[in-house]
Amino acid sequence: MSYQLLTNNNIEIMGGRTLRRYLLMGLLCLVTIGLIYQFTSPACFVSHSSASQWIGPERFVMSKDESQKFVYNRYMPLIFIGGMPRSGTTLLRVLLDAHPDIRCGEETRVIPRLLGLRQTWLKAPFESRRLQEAGITSEVLDSAVGAFILEIIAKHGTPAARLCNKDPFTLRSAVYLRYLFPKSKFIFMIRDGRAVVHSIISRKVTISGFDLKDFRQCLKKWNAAMSAMHYQCQELGPTVCLPVHYEQLVLQPNKWLHNILNFLDVPWNESVLHHEQLVNRKDGISLSKLERSTDQVIKPINIEALSKWVGQIPDDVVKDMNEVAPMLAMLGYDPAANPPNYGSADLLVKQNMEQLNRNKEDWDAKQQHLQSVRESIRNSLVKQKANNNNDNNNDNNVIDMIPQSNDLDKTLSPLQSIT
Ligand code: A3P
Repeated sequence: MSYQLLTNNNIEIMGGRTLRRYLLMGLLCLVTIGLIYQFTSPACFVSHSSASQWIGPERFVMSKDESQKFVYNRYMPLIFIGGMPRSGTTLLRVLLDAHPDIRCGEETRVIPRLLGLRQTWLKAPFESRRLQEAGITSEVLDSAVGAFILEIIAKHGTPAARLCNKDPFTLRSAVYLRYLFPKSKFIFMIRDGRAVVHSIISRKVTISGFDLKDFRQCLKKWNAAMSAMHYQCQELGPTVCLPVHYEQLVLQPNKWLHNILNFLDVPWNESVLHHEQLVNRKDGISLSKLERSTDQVIKPINIEALSKWVGQIPDDVVKDMNEVAPMLAMLGYDPAANPPNYGSADLLVKQNMEQLNRNKEDWDAKQQHLQSVRESIRNSLVKQKANNNNDNNNDNNVIDMIPQSNDLDKTLSPLQSIT
């Protein structure tokens, strides 16, 4: 039998070889495991700052004092606030920002633009075919778009347990956003279209595709945008998308903020009723010097803007109101009433109004200061642009709002709509 031929010496040699083979195999396994980690989790080899982790199974942001770690991922319950600009979207985001568990922050502007860009790529048949040929499938695009949006939301402001985004036009992509972030919730701000258009025109808010000299055209644009957003919100259903009427919010903030926090599964906190005490404070609410609503949201919740539009609309538009803006009636506004009865103010709002009237001069001075800061920054940017010969086709720095899709105006080419 062959085993009888094995001498002790032979056995030792064989044992040594086997051992070496096992050692080699073990080493090989270790290297393979290491390589797999390197590709799936580069963070374990590359040193990162303790402030954040860029790629890896767990993304997080540390609190300023480095004592708390906020993990973020696409399965977190993000909050999206949207609606037509001038519908009280900034007011709602600062009210939520006043809550210790929530951070919304300023408009990011890049999120709606990226969503619009994705739509243009997918809608153009030739371009979308070319992307497929290049291996950029919709899955690849979705994961890239999702990662981009998440990074921007998580890192453009202070960390918080509940992260929120307010870029008004993102509501046009609510269904897609919900697909990217399956636990996200949406708040759709609705305001009487006549007030919205009056606000846009009287405050000269530049929105791509809106002709500020033409009330009728702007109202039609409002109607088209609201119809698209209303559809998106309805598709998501009442447990995912909550419509909030600006008029109701400013008249009955206590009731509506309870509703909103309930909807978001966030515990009640009185601070949401007094956001003005936290504006621009250390660890308080951060406001952009360049957003047009900044000089209004510094004030406590008030009803100054409720009916300013009455008497300011051209007669022919008033006459055709229902045909020009059928969404008014659809959303519960009487197109024939000028103004409709929006309801009565609660005690807190009455007190706020008294306080604002008592200190009118101070508030006016504060507002004027903020306006002049904004105008001087804008003017210097415009001048800079005029002086810079290389920057010949990008007006984005002076446009207030860019609808994320050119659907608002079918006659615009995608490139025109983002100037
Ligand atoms: P007006 O321009 O009619 O005054 P948005 O932020 O979506 O662009 O909305 C702007 C509107 O929200 C403005 O309407 C503004 O008055 C209103 N708003 C801002 N802060 C407010 C506050 N503290 N109380 C009531 N309304 C406020």
